[in-house]
Amino acid sequence: MRKTIMSIELEGLKPFKKGKVRDVFESGDKLLFVASDRISAFDVVMPNGIPDKGKVLTQISIFWFEFTKDIIKNHLIASDIDEIVGYDEKIGAYKDILEKRSMLVEKSQPLPVECVVRGYLAGSGWREYQEKQSICGIELPPGLKESDKLPEPIFTPSTKAETGHDESITKDETIDLIGDKLFGFVSSKSIEIYKKADDFARSKGIIIADTKFEFGKKADEIILIDEVLTPDSSRFWPLNEYKAGRPQRSYDKQFTRDYLDSLDWDKVSPGPVLPDEIVNKTREKYLSILSLITGKTL
Ligand SMILES: Nc1ncnc2c1ncn2[C@@H]1O[C@H](COP(=O)(O)OP(=O)(O)O)[C@@H](O)[C@H]1O
Ligand SMILES: [Mg+2]
Repeated sequence: MRKTIMSIELEGLKPFKKGKVRDVFESGDKLLFVASDRISAFDVVMPNGIPDKGKVLTQISIFWFEFTKDIIKNHLIASDIDEIVGYDEKIGAYKDILEKRSMLVEKSQPLPVECVVRGYLAGSGWREYQEKQSICGIELPPGLKESDKLPEPIFTPSTKAETGHDESITKDETIDLIGDKLFGFVSSKSIEIYKKADDFARSKGIIIADTKFEFGKKADEIILIDEVLTPDSSRFWPLNEYKAGRPQRSYDKQFTRDYLDSLDWDKVSPGPVLPDEIVNKTREKYLSILSLITGKTL
């Protein structure tokens, strides 16, 4: 039987934050960042999870932290479980649960915006374009179709809603939140990371349609935090099936979302239990993205 890790409790470690997917603990002045197997769809955490999903998310993030470290410093300190235990021996008792799904990271003060980059027109960006021919106040050419590639990747930040859906905000609204200097910094870093990652992913048969980064303040520095370019924070499309003018099959939660759409569920918590078939297919998808991007298996 495969084990699904829905919640992580570690005696002796103080919980720092419980997100939709991650359970974060204090470890001295650092954080132990653990990805559970929880899955959320339409911002609702489902009652059952996807075995190994947390491991896949963590391993993909680690790959991208390494890949982007010449562009910007990030919060990753250690990901090898023995190395983590070397920093904090209390963690040693939980090696089995934590292995591959954990990172020891620098504690930072997250900036209050989600740094979204879009290279293609999809999801809420596509909806906003249809209404206004712009996204976050950025004018776009007329006549673009769903899933079209944008002339240039654009930075379309959104608020970090504590509960519910994030809302996209304009450049001026973002500057009100973080100031113009930080706006310039995170927008250019986000686009630079996106371009480099998209080039690489393309060589592996994947289009990164859009993605979301988070940055945090650590002393006087701004570093890349959270998860990076995972199927949870990005839209990945198979390159060989790409065709503008329609929605694309996405690599990850598609089965989950399609299944939920087929039910008479109002998308309000609690969500329905996912049947085994959906769980297994979704798991296969997560594993295949891991190996496509990193060349590795769990
Ligand atoms: N280095 C860091 N320091 C402090 N907080 C962080 C750091 N990296 C990520 N976080 C925060 O930890 C949380 C990660 O948990 P997650 O399950 O992804 O939450 P969410 O439901 O908000 O997406 C997020 O709120 C994120 O802002
Ligand atoms: Mg998150």
